Amino acid sequence: MNLIFLGPPGAGKGTHAVRLAQQLNIPQISTGDMLRGHVKAQTRLGLEAKKYMDAGELVPDDVIIGMVKERLQEPDCAGGYIFDGFPRTVAQAEALSEFAKIDAVLNLIVSDQVIIDRLSGRRVCPDCNGTFHIKHLENASVCPNCGGKLVIRKDDEPETVLNRLNVYRRQTEPLIDYYRQKGLLRDANGEGSVDANYAEVLEALGIR
Ligand code: AP5
Repeated sequence: MNLIFLGPPGAGKGTHAVRLAQQLNIPQISTGDMLRGHVKAQTRLGLEAKKYMDAGELVPDDVIIGMVKERLQEPDCAGGYIFDGFPRTVAQAEALSEFAKIDAVLNLIVSDQVIIDRLSGRRVCPDCNGTFHIKHLENASVCPNCGGKLVIRKDDEPETVLNRLNVYRRQTEPLIDYYRQKGLLRDANGEGSVDANYAEVLEALGIR
């Protein structure tokens, strides 16, 4: 099964994609995580991407498309995959259609207020890539999975979050109609508890 998880920043794409990828035993492909890996390793791509990411802007399409195309060549993608945060522009979606066949696109629906609340409380672990919310942590600075030091993502600063929302509305939201017209879109509520949302994700995708 080849899936796309679509939704505004903080909609829960990563949270649910990681869980479903484990359940289906297929890789979750997060372009955001891949880019953050490049930034951390200080590759040329990472150095170029960092300025866009820190400002909440999208990294240029050609950089992303090349990176994803390369990732899909890896053997673990042969049995299916979940894209988390890709595609994000119509140009990316059109390029993708030339080298992959998508079975369904999950659209997570969340209001701006909930997004702002979630991202202001998000903590991430740079060691294991875990994502948490301070509401659910006993200690807001220690990763409950690996004991690493939790940090606030640079693009979760309040001003950058507002820009990311604007960028989403302008550049990514048109993909909802794009995929609806292709008959691939499946809507799911992204508000409420993680477990309740995950049940909706499974139902929207027809997975038991
Ligand atoms: P990326 O890392 O993809 O960020 P994003 O799309 O802005 O998404 P987030 O990771 O912020 O949110 P999410 O929907 O995964 O939510 P999460 O599960 O973490 O991209 C970062 C940057 O990289 C971009 O701004 C851009 O610069 C660049 N980039 C990446 N891909 C690109 C592309 N294709 N083209 C161009 N540029 C690209 O959940 C959020 C929080 O909510 C967590 O703390 C979670 O614990 C909490 N939470 C609370 N309740 C729930 C619930 N019910 N369900 C899920 N999570 C919940």
